Amino acid sequence: MKVGIVGAGMVGSAAGSALALRGGASEVVFVDRNAALAQAQAEDISHAVPFAHPCRLSAGEYDALEGAEVVILSAGVAQKPGESRLSLLSRNAEVFASVIGGVRAAAPGAMLLVASNPVDIMTQVALRASGLPPERVIGSGTILDTARFRSLLGAHLGIAPQSVHAYVLGEHGDSEVLAWSSARAGTEPVARFGAQLGAPITEAVRARIDAGVRRAAYRIIEGKGATWYGIGAGLARIVQAIRDDQGAVLSVSIVAPEVEGVPDIALSLPRVVGRKGVSATLMPEMSETETAALRASAEVLKESTQGLW
Ligand code: LAC
Repeated sequence: MKVGIVGAGMVGSAAGSALALRGGASEVVFVDRNAALAQAQAEDISHAVPFAHPCRLSAGEYDALEGAEVVILSAGVAQKPGESRLSLLSRNAEVFASVIGGVRAAAPGAMLLVASNPVDIMTQVALRASGLPPERVIGSGTILDTARFRSLLGAHLGIAPQSVHAYVLGEHGDSEVLAWSSARAGTEPVARFGAQLGAPITEAVRARIDAGVRRAAYRIIEGKGATWYGIGAGLARIVQAIRDDQGAVLSVSIVAPEVEGVPDIALSLPRVVGRKGVSATLMPEMSETETAALRASAEVLKESTQGLW
């Protein structure tokens, strides 16, 4: 599968590297207004290919995207220390307005995979500019937050994060919702599993894991200026689900007609991802608190789009 990556910065290059290293794409093409950066990223990652899987990497203008089945949109500015994702909106919406036309002209059949923050609203910007159906404009959403949730829960319980089935819902941002009530370790509710293992999920543990997930990006940005490896791997995971028509259940963001009474909104819910994009949304059972928090998250996003279109 040929994958285009528009935006050859840290996130785009981490996605390209993850795709090459896990064999997620036979071809990756970088497009960036900084042509030298795009070329350098392609060449650098191509030197990893002999240690991994066959993958042709290159860089070019928009016409080089021809034939791409997925185009990752990672162009735009990233958070600075202490800056919220939502504060990037006006700058990145402008960037997308200049990018989407070129992508659609070069690769009209491509699905769009949005990574630029604030990713939920940027998914909506991309959908409106692309004219594609909602199921083919996918935002990475909370796929990374869900991974963080599973990683921290697994560490607490002493089990592989792959054996933790838990989701983060809503905004990929400060209002996101950790769905504790549906979290499972194997087939067991995490609370029961933790009690059995002598690793109870106390209020203090919940608060620690919540902060660990919700504030992860801020901590990492303080330390190294940006995040990229986690989101790069998450983007590659979504591409693999599309390429292999996996029907994988991933917490990704697409525009829905309504969520918890809030109309025309993009946020993350567990969704089935395959060759045709998103084929189903699985509304998880939630506690009253979680339902209220998801509605509040949808309202934060809705409020942030006021005046945008
Ligand atoms: C993060 C960025 C990708 O959460 O929003 O690390």
